[in-house]
Amino acid sequence: MSKSSVDLKKLLSQMTIDEKIGQLVELNAEFFIKSASEVTGPATSFGFSEHGLSTIGSTLNFNGAREMRAIQAKHLENDRNKIPMLFAMDVIHGYKTLYPIPLSLGCSFDPELMKECCSMAASEASAAGVQLTFAPMLDFCREPRWGRVMETCGEDAYLNSVMGVAQVKGYQGDDLSEEGNIAASVKHLAAYGGAEGGRDYNTVELSEHILREFYLPAYKACIDAGAKLVMPSFNNLGGVPATANPWIMKKILREEWGYDGLVVSDYAALRELMNHGVTGSLKESAEVAFRNECDVEMMSGAYYKHLHELIDEGVFSEDELDRSVMRMLELKAELGLFDDPYHMASEEKERELFYCEKHREIARRAAEESAVLLKNNGVLPLSDKIKKIAVIGPFRDTGAINGFWTCCGDKNYAVTVTEGIREILPEAEIVGADGVSAKLGESSTDGIDEAVRLAESAEAVVLCVGEAQDYIGEARCIADITLSAPQRELVRRVCEANPNTAVLLFNGRPIVLTGIADVAPAMLEMFFPGTEGGRAAANLLFGRVNPSGKLSMSFPKHVGQIPVYYNRTMTGRPKRQGDDVFEGYTSSYMDCGILPLYFFGEGLSYTKFIYEEMSLDRREMGESDTLAVSVTVRNAGERAGKEVVQLYLRDLVSSTVRPVQELIAFEKIALEAGERRTVRFEISEPMLRLWNFENKFVSEKGDFLVSVGYADHMYFSEKFTLVK
Ligand code: GLC
Repeated sequence: MSKSSVDLKKLLSQMTIDEKIGQLVELNAEFFIKSASEVTGPATSFGFSEHGLSTIGSTLNFNGAREMRAIQAKHLENDRNKIPMLFAMDVIHGYKTLYPIPLSLGCSFDPELMKECCSMAASEASAAGVQLTFAPMLDFCREPRWGRVMETCGEDAYLNSVMGVAQVKGYQGDDLSEEGNIAASVKHLAAYGGAEGGRDYNTVELSEHILREFYLPAYKACIDAGAKLVMPSFNNLGGVPATANPWIMKKILREEWGYDGLVVSDYAALRELMNHGVTGSLKESAEVAFRNECDVEMMSGAYYKHLHELIDEGVFSEDELDRSVMRMLELKAELGLFDDPYHMASEEKERELFYCEKHREIARRAAEESAVLLKNNGVLPLSDKIKKIAVIGPFRDTGAINGFWTCCGDKNYAVTVTEGIREILPEAEIVGADGVSAKLGESSTDGIDEAVRLAESAEAVVLCVGEAQDYIGEARCIADITLSAPQRELVRRVCEANPNTAVLLFNGRPIVLTGIADVAPAMLEMFFPGTEGGRAAANLLFGRVNPSGKLSMSFPKHVGQIPVYYNRTMTGRPKRQGDDVFEGYTSSYMDCGILPLYFFGEGLSYTKFIYEEMSLDRREMGESDTLAVSVTVRNAGERAGKEVVQLYLRDLVSSTVRPVQELIAFEKIALEAGERRTVRFEISEPMLRLWNFENKFVSEKGDFLVSVGYADHMYFSEKFTLVK
């Protein structure tokens, strides 16, 4: 709790109501950059007075230590109570040195690596004056059309929970007041990733059963891990926008989960309650949000303008106001801001840390560990003796491989694929052409002939295609996630011209690759790998690093399959394994079946892992027992590699339908060529629970199947029984 020398209760008692309300208002830094006398521009549009601005408790979207120190210094000069402002940013996958987007880092199945990345990001952000990041984003998602799918760790609740907790620990460290640590947020509560049709901000209609089983666990895991802030989601949930939704904000978050920390609205969300049509005025928005203990409003002006009125009218007591204000003061105290309002931000530290070699190494390793080898007919790894290579496609020589939410990262600092290859082939001739554009609506294929000519002239070709990073991120949803026609044409013609071709994919969501999967000799999924992306790609292409990523989300065969995900439930007329797609009376698509093109948990290696054995130490377990599962894996290939051993569960008979597979544990292991390792997992009763029809998490006696492998490709499955 608060470590500062300040007596917070005494401080609170000295504050006026308006000064307390100021602590519950968060504004963009632009409100504070102008001189105090220039209360113009955005300030006036919200009606903030000069004195009013001096009471504001937190700000976001500022630019570095110098600006932060100037804003804080001016604020402390003007604020009667000398309460430091809190400085927040969206540090989602790096501050300056960017690592892969979370959807990609989820493919690393390496929580320690995720934690290391977030700790690195926190050190850069903290140097730049950031004290709070609006991350991790934990919105479980089965909707690749949704632009913000890039921010999640994919389609599995357990993977999202594990990688989310790693982010909280990486950002916050052990002591928030220590240099390099920043507070983490849980966002966006709840089920923002369930927006109908994958359209951002859209309605979410999900049963409590699905919410409990899939959409809520990761938020709770990160709150239990000590995240310091919660941000409600824009979407309505069951007809009521989260910011004003008593079920999620009070019953679940405050009462059931026992969260007593700070809640900050999303950007202008209180004002937007009127757009939703659930409030008729900004004052009503203030009332309904505060009633749901949304402590702080971001960029809406609702509390600033109306909370005092609501207290005067007796709608809220000053004690309720004090409860929210104390949450903000306690967070500031925990950050040590009353002792050091600048939280050790310094331009010198910025110069030392931004893009430094140590941080680049972390970002590069993350990109290497997150890449997923989807296909390889043996063309990879490429030889580093090549004398002439063609690097083709719209992503061949660009720094625009960082994705969205790049915070203060600069694409000009990113290593391009061509630059990465040049470092490995310093003497080779490298020829290149974009061939086509990846931009939406660009249909020209005029450049393909030149690309084909270059491909024919080279010993090997690296073909870089995907989706432009402009089409991913907030409010960037795409109805058809199929790789664009010009790029498909480019891949087909180049692969025809030179079979020694490897395809690199750059995208921020699963995309439909059906049109090229049959012709590409090899495909390496990089997603948006960040600042070191080109260097990581080259290391993987030439075998300096052996790919080890496993998909964090299914890749559909066809956009019409969406949603398609591994942990589907059975139907009364399941499509039986091997059934012809034209088999009648099954729940399937006649034209493409129900299985994706590439599966959650799938990913190849340059070596071969053989799953030799799986054994259970018991066949029956009571509620207090632990069942041990041992899995022996051997590296039967010629080179060292890493494998993600994934353990899945299926409840064979239960009161509610269960997924055909549920990931319950995983371990990433490194094996030298020929090496064998036995991995041991432990299954306990809580791992067997389901959300039943009485709205309780319970385990039910009966038979379970435990398997090792991935999705619809299991190497071993064994049955055990829970006895009660
Ligand atoms: C945005 C996003 C949220 C972000 C906030 C502040 O609209 O929804 O994730 O943290 O505004 O930038």
